[in-house]
Amino acid sequence: MDRLILTDVCPRDGLQNQSTTVSTPDKLKLIDLLVRAGVQSVEAASFVSPKAVPQMADAAEVVAGLKREHAGLRTSVLVPNLKGLERAQAAGAREIAVVLSATETMNLKNINMTLQQATEVSEQTLKSAQAHGMKTRAYVAVAFDCPFEGTTPLERVVQLSRRMLQAGADEVVIADTIGSASPGMVRDRTRALCQDIPVDRLAMHFHDTRGMAVANAWAAVEEGMRRFDVSAGGIGGCPFAPGAAGNAATEDLVLMAERSGLATGIDLMALLDAVDLAEQLLQRPLGGRSAAWLRRQREKSLQAA
Ligand code: COA
Ligand code: ZN
Repeated sequence: MDRLILTDVCPRDGLQNQSTTVSTPDKLKLIDLLVRAGVQSVEAASFVSPKAVPQMADAAEVVAGLKREHAGLRTSVLVPNLKGLERAQAAGAREIAVVLSATETMNLKNINMTLQQATEVSEQTLKSAQAHGMKTRAYVAVAFDCPFEGTTPLERVVQLSRRMLQAGADEVVIADTIGSASPGMVRDRTRALCQDIPVDRLAMHFHDTRGMAVANAWAAVEEGMRRFDVSAGGIGGCPFAPGAAGNAATEDLVLMAERSGLATGIDLMALLDAVDLAEQLLQRPLGGRSAAWLRRQREKSLQAA
């Protein structure tokens, strides 16, 4: 069966911007439930300045905990610069993701670099990671719209993606950081990217700010995309991108895939346990658009048992 390859970014994108602090053991519990549900790839943490993002200050402990408990899990960590890469290596990380925004202002707000500096730093970081035998992803953030500069020129998104691949990225992640994309825009941008880049080197990262994440994901599937970032419970958002809401919920994309004949390896009922734990930890109701319906199915099957 044709399949989607999902990376759950809940432990990083999901937790980086929460007002409630989640402890290291609780982060590991959450990842453990994701793995039990069948998730095979997670973005576990980010090695960024703890002053900029206090929720990620324990990144090294999270990576160490995962190495102990989940040796087979594909675990990537976000790094904004060479210092982040060094910290990730010291912690034993095997895969990193650099974060390049496609506009000047977003790079300045997010990582205090101009577009040119961010491009060069990302290239150096990718090359160094590759030289150390690590796997690599490169985010091209604000690839649809920028909260500060409006619609991002498509040619620039294509050009930066190409540069990231040339610098050694195994995978380029096209990110709708503020969740403003629509299916037509996804179709057009995906087509343009696929003219230059093999589709299996591309992944899509949607946010659900306007309720379009599932429609956007499906538009990308129809263009041949199979790799997606998701977040259990639909939590997420960049602290430096005003107006960004949570990521495409894992449960929504898994249900979309299941009902459309695409495998994911993820069990929806087991995934609800991870969403329940995230709710307890963050002390507020969570869940993608399908979560209420999924929970009713769980109730029914419990009553029937
Ligand atoms: N991890 C931890 N600390 C770091 C670091 C990293 N990757 N990179 C730099 N630092 C530290 C420096 O050592 C220095 O520490 P000091 O004040 O104790 O001397 C301090 O941060 C400032 O260093 P500088 O190189 O001048 O960085 P900056 O102030 O220009 O900030 C970033 C740049 C990238 C470190 C910061 O903007 C950042 O962490 N951004 C993260 C954005 C993010 O996570 N966004 C959401 C995900 S896309
Ligand atoms: Zn994101």
